[in-house]
This record gives sequence, C-alpha cells and structure tokens, in this order.
Amino acid sequence: MFSLTVNGKSHQVDVEPEMPLLWVLRDIIGLTGTKYACGISQCGACTVHVDGEAVRSCVMPVSAAVGKRITTIEGLSTDSSHPVQRAWIELDVPQCGYCQSGQIMAAAALLAKTPKPTDADIDRAMSGVLCRCGTYLRIRAAIKKW
Ligand code: FES
Ligand code: FES
Repeated sequence: MFSLTVNGKSHQVDVEPEMPLLWVLRDIIGLTGTKYACGISQCGACTVHVDGEAVRSCVMPVSAAVGKRITTIEGLSTDSSHPVQRAWIELDVPQCGYCQSGQIMAAAALLAKTPKPTDADIDRAMSGVLCRCGTYLRIRAAIKKW
C-alpha cells in the first residue's frame, strides 16, 4: 500500500511498487487527463509534475513518487484558469488534443522556473514532447504569450 499526494489530495493505492505512475493515475485514481501514448518515455504525452519537475509518468515506478508532490493536468487549475491554459485557449493551440496535456504540463514546468524563456529554453524544455498534428508553432507562441 502506498500513499500518494496528487493535486493536493492524499490517495492510498494498493499496487505493485514497479507499476508506472501513469497507470496508477489513470486506472486506480481515475485521473485520465494524463495520456498514454508510447509508454517508453519517447513522446511526453504522459508528462506530470513531481515536486515541480516535468516527468514522464509512463516510466516512473509508483514507489518513486511516494512522499512527493504530484500534479496532473487536472490539478493545474480547477477551471482552466492557469495562465498557460489561458494562453493555450486564446491561441487555439490543440488540434486533436491527444498530446496537449503533456505539452501544457511541460510548458507549465518550464514557465514556473523561467517566466521569460528564450527559444533555446523552449527547445530544451519542449523537445521530445511530440505532437502528431504539428502544433509546435502555436505551442511556442502560447509559451511566449504567457
Ligand atoms: S507515454 Fe510516456 S513518454 Fe510517451
Ligand atoms: S494536437 Fe494532435 S497530437 Fe498534438
């Protein structure tokens, strides 16, 4: 049994220690805003924050998240009012939307530390967060608008 703090709430989960955090978030706790895509840390769709850092939850064992502050897209704000979400809405960033919670979580982690990121900062933070719809230009514009 593990105790996890997700979006400020405590959850007791009875799972194997090596179960990926993503599985626990989606299938045990029911937070399905974080997406499963590659499952091997190659796409960023599953990005959440752990103690403020963007991490790929598909490859993080749940046991490694115990005692840490986990934030998912559902916890960024209760009403899509986080500045990153507002910028995303204003610039109409998503296309199919599948990658977008990962994009937003990666961007939010970057902007929390670097409020005025350079293109190089954005390249570093967002590289490897893949979008099959090719929304990269709007993502960059939304990050700069924040
Ligand atoms: S699903 Fe985790 S990186 Fe692709
Ligand atoms: S908006 Fe479709 S994969 Fe990114």
